[in-house]
Amino acid sequence: MLERLEELRARAIAEMEAAGDKAALESWRLAYLGRKGALTILLRSIGALPPEERRAAGAAGNQVKTDLETALERKRAALEAAARSTGEPPLDITLPGRAPTLGGLHPTTLMLRQICRAFTALGFQVVEGPEVEWDYYNFEALNIPKDHPARDMWSTFWMDFQNKAGERPMLLRTHTSPMQIRVMERARPPIRVVIPGRCYRYEATDATHESIFFQVEGLAVDQGITMADLKGTLYEFARRLFGPERRVRFRCDYFPFVEPGVEMAIDCFACGGSGCRLCSGSGWIEIMGAGMVHPKVLERVGYDPQVYTGFAFGLGLERIAMLQWGINDIRLFYSNDLRFLKQFKGVGQ
Ligand code: DAH
Repeated sequence: MLERLEELRARAIAEMEAAGDKAALESWRLAYLGRKGALTILLRSIGALPPEERRAAGAAGNQVKTDLETALERKRAALEAAARSTGEPPLDITLPGRAPTLGGLHPTTLMLRQICRAFTALGFQVVEGPEVEWDYYNFEALNIPKDHPARDMWSTFWMDFQNKAGERPMLLRTHTSPMQIRVMERARPPIRVVIPGRCYRYEATDATHESIFFQVEGLAVDQGITMADLKGTLYEFARRLFGPERRVRFRCDYFPFVEPGVEMAIDCFACGGSGCRLCSGSGWIEIMGAGMVHPKVLERVGYDPQVYTGFAFGLGLERIAMLQWGINDIRLFYSNDLRFLKQFKGVGQ
């Protein structure tokens, strides 16, 4: 038996040497190591040997099998290496790379940057403030006393926190105007700041109302500031954002913390003023509230209104973005729908 095994090994090795490609090697494998291969059949017959021979034959048989298998692997590798060097394409086990999905900036961020850039170019500094505010800053110090009907202009989210008097003095800011007070308390004129930030209103949402939105507030206080400064600054801002040919219109409006108060509009950049859907046929688009800082507001922060005057303004950021990009529903901004957000990829910052 041992001789037959050795003989088979020699024959198998010689035949393997002759195999010149993968297909020949596979036939060789079937011929020797396959289920009906020569070695397999020989090994099977070991069981029929007398017990005293069986052990040695079994060990030798297994050795031959291991040797042939090792030789087979080596030959396979050699054939593959040869194929590679002759230019036959090797088996490509790599997947094409996955391109990383690049994000883009949110339309709110894009618009915020545009607005801040326009104002910083005019000498304004950008500051931020708290979203959870005291009643004092959000209303009281802005000349909106408790129980004054003007509070109805801002539907408020109150914090569930009571002071000793049983009042709820904290809220989610309904506008960025409270920062006017905080800035004036901390600094002395000249002041020129813009304050972008998130605001909250207890609001039934629809296409033009959302309970979370952004405003950009502005404040300039100094000696000798007049309504002409307000108009000149906001006019220049409108031209920078909406085009150099823009015209602006100021009309009286009421806000408790300014006197006089105005609402500012630009001529419609879609129709040029003749009337279209964007401007609801009027030719004008309102873009912000503004006014001369009320003397009472100045007095409260310790400024003498005979010495200092100032102007303030506040705009709704999403509204401007909606005009700029033709967005017809404010709820799209914060509903995280990628089909909407993706459209701003690559929009200039
Ligand atoms: N805070 C006002 C609002 O939310 C907007 C506003 C109007 C701000 C006039 C101002 C201003 O600074 O002068 O409706």
